[in-house]
Amino acid sequence: MEHRELLAQAVKAAEMSYSKYSGFSVGAALLTAEGVIFKGCNIENASFSLTNCAERTAVFKAVSEGYTKFSAIAIAGSGDGDFSKPCYPCGACLQVLSEFCGDDLVIVLADGEYRLSDFLPKRFCEDSMK
Ligand code: THU
Repeated sequence: MEHRELLAQAVKAAEMSYSKYSGFSVGAALLTAEGVIFKGCNIENASFSLTNCAERTAVFKAVSEGYTKFSAIAIAGSGDGDFSKPCYPCGACLQVLSEFCGDDLVIVLADGEYRLSDFLPKRFCEDSMK
């Protein structure tokens, strides 16, 4: 799977965005170690704090279907249909991703490719509680 294609899938996923409050559509395309893609979008709520980001939607879909190893995630976000600017992942999504991915998870954005460790160099994890 080419990362450019994964980004195109993220833009496609944003079509399903339920974002009537912010007007900001986000899509994510999560690539599993097996080569399966799970798409997700942001899902907002009138009780704003219950909003679920696109990345977490994709992760929860994948994990609930038995996939827990991921190699890459593409993220695309836009308020006006122009997805050329990068949509950086929020801290909550990085933490959720880190539960299932190593530092080397590839994060594909409109301005290039990153690793999870670029955004979250240190993190709270299972070992933090030992
Ligand atoms: N959003 C995401 O879906 N992913 C992120 O990483 C950052 C923000 C969504 C949440 C909300 O629906 C909208 O973008 C504006 O914050």
